[in-house]
Amino acid sequence: MAVLKSLLITFTLFAFSTAARPVKKLSSSYKSDPHVCSAAQFAAHGLDISKFIFCNQSFSYQVRAKDLVDRMTVEEKVQQLGDRSSGVPRLGLPHYKWWSEALHGVANTGPGTFFNATIPGATSFPNVILSAASFNESLWNTLGQVVSTEARAMYNLGMAGLTFWSPNINVVRDPRWGRTLETPGEDPFVVGRYAVNYVRGLQDVDGNEYSEDPNSRPLKVSSCCKHYAAYDLEDWLGVNRWTFDAKVTEQDMVETFQRPFEMCVKDGDVSSVMCSFNNINGIPPCADARLLSGTIRGDWNLHGYIVSDCDSIETIWKSQKWLHDTKEDAVAQVLKAGLDLDCGIYYTNYTMPSLNQGKVRESDIDKALINLYILLMRVGWFDGSPTYASLGKDDVCTKENMELAADAARQGIVLLKNDNHTLPLHSNIYKKLALVGPHANATTAMIGNYAGIPCKYVSPLDAFSKDADVIYAMGCANVKCKNETFVFEAMEAAKNADATIIISGLDLSIEGEGTDRTDLLLPGYQTDLINRVADIATTPVILVIFSGGVVDIAFAKNNKKIKAIIWAGYPGEGGGTAIADIIFGRYNPGGRLPLTWYQANYVDQVPMTSMKLRPDDNLGYPGRTYKFFNGSTVYPFGYGLSYTPFNTTLVSAKKSLDVKLRKYQSCHDLQSVPDGYLNPCPAVLVDDLISITNEKIDFEILVHNSGCKKGNLVLIVYEVPPNEYQGLPSKQVVGFKRVSLMAGEKQSVKFELDVKSLSVVSDSAYLLVPSGEHMIQVGDGNGAVIFPVNVNFYY
Ligand SMILES: *[C@@H]1O[C@H](CO)[C@@H](O)[C@H](O)[C@H]1NC(C)=O
Ligand SMILES: *[C@@H]1O[C@H](CO)[C@@H](O)[C@H](O)[C@H]1NC(C)=O
Ligand SMILES: *[C@@H]1O[C@H](CO)[C@@H](O)[C@H](O)[C@H]1NC(C)=O
Ligand SMILES: *[C@@H]1O[C@H](CO)[C@@H](O)[C@H](O)[C@H]1NC(C)=O
Ligand SMILES: *[C@@H]1O[C@H](CO)[C@@H](O)[C@H](O)[C@H]1NC(C)=O
Ligand SMILES: *[C@@H]1O[C@H](CO)[C@@H](O)[C@H](O)[C@H]1NC(C)=O
Ligand SMILES: *[C@@H]1O[C@H](CO)[C@@H](O)[C@H](O)[C@H]1NC(C)=O
Ligand SMILES: *[C@@H]1O[C@H](CO)[C@@H](O)[C@H](O)[C@H]1NC(C)=O
Ligand SMILES: *[C@@H]1O[C@H](CO)[C@@H](O)[C@H](O)[C@H]1NC(C)=O
Repeated sequence: MAVLKSLLITFTLFAFSTAARPVKKLSSSYKSDPHVCSAAQFAAHGLDISKFIFCNQSFSYQVRAKDLVDRMTVEEKVQQLGDRSSGVPRLGLPHYKWWSEALHGVANTGPGTFFNATIPGATSFPNVILSAASFNESLWNTLGQVVSTEARAMYNLGMAGLTFWSPNINVVRDPRWGRTLETPGEDPFVVGRYAVNYVRGLQDVDGNEYSEDPNSRPLKVSSCCKHYAAYDLEDWLGVNRWTFDAKVTEQDMVETFQRPFEMCVKDGDVSSVMCSFNNINGIPPCADARLLSGTIRGDWNLHGYIVSDCDSIETIWKSQKWLHDTKEDAVAQVLKAGLDLDCGIYYTNYTMPSLNQGKVRESDIDKALINLYILLMRVGWFDGSPTYASLGKDDVCTKENMELAADAARQGIVLLKNDNHTLPLHSNIYKKLALVGPHANATTAMIGNYAGIPCKYVSPLDAFSKDADVIYAMGCANVKCKNETFVFEAMEAAKNADATIIISGLDLSIEGEGTDRTDLLLPGYQTDLINRVADIATTPVILVIFSGGVVDIAFAKNNKKIKAIIWAGYPGEGGGTAIADIIFGRYNPGGRLPLTWYQANYVDQVPMTSMKLRPDDNLGYPGRTYKFFNGSTVYPFGYGLSYTPFNTTLVSAKKSLDVKLRKYQSCHDLQSVPDGYLNPCPAVLVDDLISITNEKIDFEILVHNSGCKKGNLVLIVYEVPPNEYQGLPSKQVVGFKRVSLMAGEKQSVKFELDVKSLSVVSDSAYLLVPSGEHMIQVGDGNGAVIFPVNVNFYY
């Protein structure tokens, strides 16, 4: 009652003063450290800030957020549940735009962030699929830090929000998926580690990486792992993401689709998760209480808010027609499932009627709002962030940041072929270059999607022109390359050059949000262009591919006249510099493919709508990803060459794990191969093991750069489950490290795996460690180091 009374008084006072001074200007006088709880601003609007507990820093965020929510009328509350929250002027609460994006640089995709002459652009890093290929965790973390610094600077100038709906961490299950470029690839562990590092880079405030009370842990900006879950289909032969019902087994949920999200929440302490459009086994994830309240908030202990994909409540009602919902039903279901924020207008429009129809409780609304305001307190929206107050214009597009953009591309770029050591080229020999192909002068194509305005492009044409005389010919009008009109001038250029560099591939007209592919080929006449240019050239031909998803370039791999092939993802604003640095040997490539490069016929063997990772012998479907696909590939997952040879040897390793089980800990079955050895104790729950042992599998690898160039080597560590069981992955990534070695240098690299690294997910979705001979494999192919770890359980 007391609260109600003071509410009324405040309302009157403020209503009076707003007439003269609109509250929209509330924070505009804070050039350096804008924040809501400013005594001067409150006073200027006739409000005494000391009356508002939500502005009193001696209370916990929890108490303050509740105080704020309790002061609102229910009509005011629902106006704060959408991504464009209205604010409550009479309480001194300004509006807030929740939707900003920072996938690979501050983007202007959402309404929360924009550019103008004050900040005309921000650093645009490579698309995630390329940065992922660096397999460099510290790079991923650094990228997050630099992006959040630019974001904070823009926030200080009133040009960005503090809540960024990035990264996209859906596992690439199918090579046709249009949004592959946004993601770290097909391996759930690699995707999860990318998420943890990037999220921590965005969010962590130095010295506050961990906290006893995660609800009070300050954040630099808020990051969001999306789209939860089992989402990797846009629009394939008429099946679209809004109506697609992904039929997913619990085994695949645990093993693949949820894993990166679990790592993002548990290890990254991300402060937001976005649910996806697609149904999962008939239920829209945004309306699934088990997934939202149960798994994300309950099992994984999310501290933060859950947001819908944009207009997904409308999708439930309009496209999915789920349970014949009315709009009010849909709003009630998602609110009760644990969805805190609606990207859209359904919450703001239909929560009142839903409440009036008795479909939700007002306390459901309160819970959501408290989650939202605690988060806004953690990012300093209420109290300011002195640490970042000095950031401004000079901190965006700095020389160092632009250099990092080029470096991220250099670290990610993958050398796929290099016959006879054709690369690197020596600029004193290769003085005249033909630079051809639809991406030879690429600019916007290099930054892909979810981008902003870059500081400055360095196109391949710009970069190569610094090293050589360039004869430039696109060879196609654009990436679609619908006809051969321009092929001849490209051939002409190649005839007259010391070397020809063809820059081909895809762009957003071929793959992107809303656009899946139906084949894995280069579009239009591009293949023809490449073959004819290679055919006519009498000097070395080098092919550079821009793409997010995989392309069947077997024709080029097998073409003896094409000496070298490089995959450059979408390399960001400094892409040209990175490619030229690699081709002229100023940087020795070390990137590895984060995707299996399937042959083109893969897409004829399995429909995009089949979600299963394991092969289906009855339907003739091959398995998916390097874990379950055993056919031949154009290039396998993890592939990538260097200009220098490396030799890796095992120095020492723990080779067995013997665990005495407690009497109450049982053995679990795993299906064995026909005529396989019947282990008396096939497997034990990971959770049981963790409760009795913290033994680690540690080992040491000696790496030798036996060549005469400095180089970068990625060591990917796989676990190969014992071969006596069926239905398990052929191998799985459990660790990786990128190291840099001078010519002739030897380096010891240590790894430490926990027992969970030896685990598999059973048919019935248990996480189990099988007994028997596991193999640990470091690297692939001839140079791989392989050793056994024997796991044995006894009582
Ligand atoms: C905050 O609340 C505490 C405890 O009620 C009180 O002592 C203090 O004066 C308040 N601070 C402000 C700035 O109002
Ligand atoms: C850019 O937008 C910010 C925030 O609204 C504003 O303060 C600034 O004056 C704008 N700059 C220009 C040049 O319009
Ligand atoms: C939501 O409410 C606004 C304002 O009343 C109205 O203009 C708009 O049409 C509504 N949107 C829908 C989808 O009903
Ligand atoms: C490498 O060079 C040698 C000698 O010039 C040549 O015989 C051989 O065919 C070349 N190999 C490839 C793969 O180009
Ligand atoms: C390369 O692209 C830039 C930016 O689109 C354009 O201004 C320039 O004219 C192009 N260069 C050539 C030689 O076409
Ligand atoms: C070839 O394609 C370009 C661009 O798509 C178009 O402008 C041109 O008319 C086409 N030429 C022929 C001969 O079809
Ligand atoms: C590859 O997988 C298919 C489908 O499960 C299976 O029939 C075939 O025997 C496997 N081939 C090899 C070489 O393992
Ligand atoms: C790597 O070094 C070891 C030990 O010196 C040697 O036995 C082995 O042949 C080398 N392997 C390669 C691929 O060079
Ligand atoms: C990993 O990235 C960091 C940050 O950019 C960089 O300093 C380091 O050299 C990279 N490591 C390797 C081995 O390339």
